[in-house]
Amino acid sequence: MGDHPDTDQLRVVVGITGGIAAYKAVGVVRALVLAGHDVHVVATDAALRFIGRPTLEAISRNPVDTDLYEGVAEVRHVAIGQAADLIVIAPATANTIAKLAAGLADDLLGNTVLASRAPLVIAPAMHTEMWQNPATVANIAVLRSRGVTVVGPAVGQLTGTDSGPGRMVEPDEIVSVALAVLRPKDLLGRRIVVTAGGTREALDPVRYIGNRSSGKQGVAIALAAAVRGADVMLIGANLEVAVPTSVRVEHVVSTLELANAVASAAERADVVIMAAAVADYRPESVAESKIKKELHGDRLSLELVRNPDILAGLAETRRAGQVIIGFAAETEPDAAALLEIGRAKIARKGSDYLLVNRVGWHEGFATDGNSVVMLDRHGDIVMEASGSKSSVADKLLDVLARAR
Ligand code: PMT
Repeated sequence: MGDHPDTDQLRVVVGITGGIAAYKAVGVVRALVLAGHDVHVVATDAALRFIGRPTLEAISRNPVDTDLYEGVAEVRHVAIGQAADLIVIAPATANTIAKLAAGLADDLLGNTVLASRAPLVIAPAMHTEMWQNPATVANIAVLRSRGVTVVGPAVGQLTGTDSGPGRMVEPDEIVSVALAVLRPKDLLGRRIVVTAGGTREALDPVRYIGNRSSGKQGVAIALAAAVRGADVMLIGANLEVAVPTSVRVEHVVSTLELANAVASAAERADVVIMAAAVADYRPESVAESKIKKELHGDRLSLELVRNPDILAGLAETRRAGQVIIGFAAETEPDAAALLEIGRAKIARKGSDYLLVNRVGWHEGFATDGNSVVMLDRHGDIVMEASGSKSSVADKLLDVLARAR
């Protein structure tokens, strides 16, 4: 295994246990396979009541192991665990958590875990009462004390009509946390503020001027920084993606709200990363009631005023040692011209780094992938990345970790 588990192939065992969230384990297996890893599913009998073996075999591209008494000649009950670089159990039920805490090995998954020296990551999923039951609380404490990484659970809608803590966190977050377990915590203790999403400028109580930023890129940066040990504060503008459980978040709507939130969070931040798509202008006035076409006829003019440039302001007032990073979203098709626009923009904004990404109808905004060139304040290229938004996030954070 190298510095980048994302790029080196790992042998990952995904344990799936019997809860309704087992269907979401398919997403975990898929994300690991897409990241290039060799994934072996060990499912309990109960898990296979919720999800079919063919689905798991097709997605993992490997046979699914369930039975302690199959492949006995290959001593499979220990071989799977011994060969694993990483074990991820998602979902982990209260029952499985209790068995892990007690060191029970009455099924293939229990044997696999006991026979392995690989890091273990579990994503609990159960009803709130079970999660908060003193037995589960004690079992989780035991597992944590042994170095097991516990992802979540998230707070949200559960299987029935109830909601609360107990929902399995989303597959992408489980995978990011799991892969990060194998990484050095190279951002430990760094206080990082990340903005994500697109600001909206109200026209009236029902309408706004906005942009198509989903928040995926900023949230991926926040999550990647948190799993690498940073203390992360996410400021989310109208996010269309779930916020990872491992980051604190403040939600904002407009550019002025974002500016205020960033100004106070930046006071104690070592690094500020502005991935949010910020409106340069806002309506000069906001109508108190819905704008009526009957009053305006065929044409309606809007008077807009400039918003503050948050990034430029941060760069101007930064403390010694504070690192300010911006993104540049440009539609320029020519790569060389795009770079020149980026160079001019970093000179204007004064940030330490600028990640230039081309955006368009089907590029950059709201997609799962991104392609960036990272410039330093002299306009020199310090990093180029193309791939998933989480891989872009990790490459950006590699630059930060190296520059420390
Ligand atoms: O959210 P996704 O769907 O995943 O899409 C990601 C993204 C394409 C939005 C993201 O990668 C990105 O490019 N974010 C910056 C978008 C943007 O506002 O670019 P800009 O070139 O207009 O602004 C340059 C920089 O100045 C940005 O860091 C921006 O946050 C900042 N800015 C802009 C205007 C303003 N008034 N204040 C600012 O701080």
